[in-house]
Order: sequence, then structure tokens, then C-alpha cells
Amino acid sequence: MSDKSYSPIAIELEKDKKYAWCTCSHSSNQPFCDGSHRAHNKPPSLGFSVDENKEAFLCTCKRTDNPPYCDGSHNK
Ligand code: FES
Repeated sequence: MSDKSYSPIAIELEKDKKYAWCTCSHSSNQPFCDGSHRAHNKPPSLGFSVDENKEAFLCTCKRTDNPPYCDGSHNK
């Protein structure tokens, strides 16, 4: 199902910093977790880090097969 209301967010990721990607879509701090999953009884965030400073496009539609990164699924 296409949902073009979502698009990835470009983020400058810092080497070795710990990030928490929102998996439940309720966070007000997309694409990152703000703890809202607890109130909605949803699964927790996905923790990740990167090996080098880089810009990445993080998924906001939550349908990517390569979380936390956008894989174009928001266009399908
Ligand atoms: S925003 Fe692109 S796959 Fe989710």
C-alpha cells in the first residue's frame, strides 16, 4: 500500500553515538524514540549506532525492510 505522506528524514549521524529509532510511529521526535511506545503498549525502539560520521536517510513510515534506514518502501 502506498503512503506518500511519509518520507525519510536526513540525519547527520555521529560515529559511536547511541541512537534509538522509533518503531511504533507514535514518537513526536521522529525518527527517534521519545518513549511514547510505553503509553501505547507498543514494542520498544531499535537501538543503533554507526562506525563513522555520515548522513543517512532514516525511515519514518516504519515499513522499511532495512530499519532504521529508508529503503523506498514508503513509495510502494
Ligand atoms: S520512509 Fe522510506 S521506507 Fe519508510
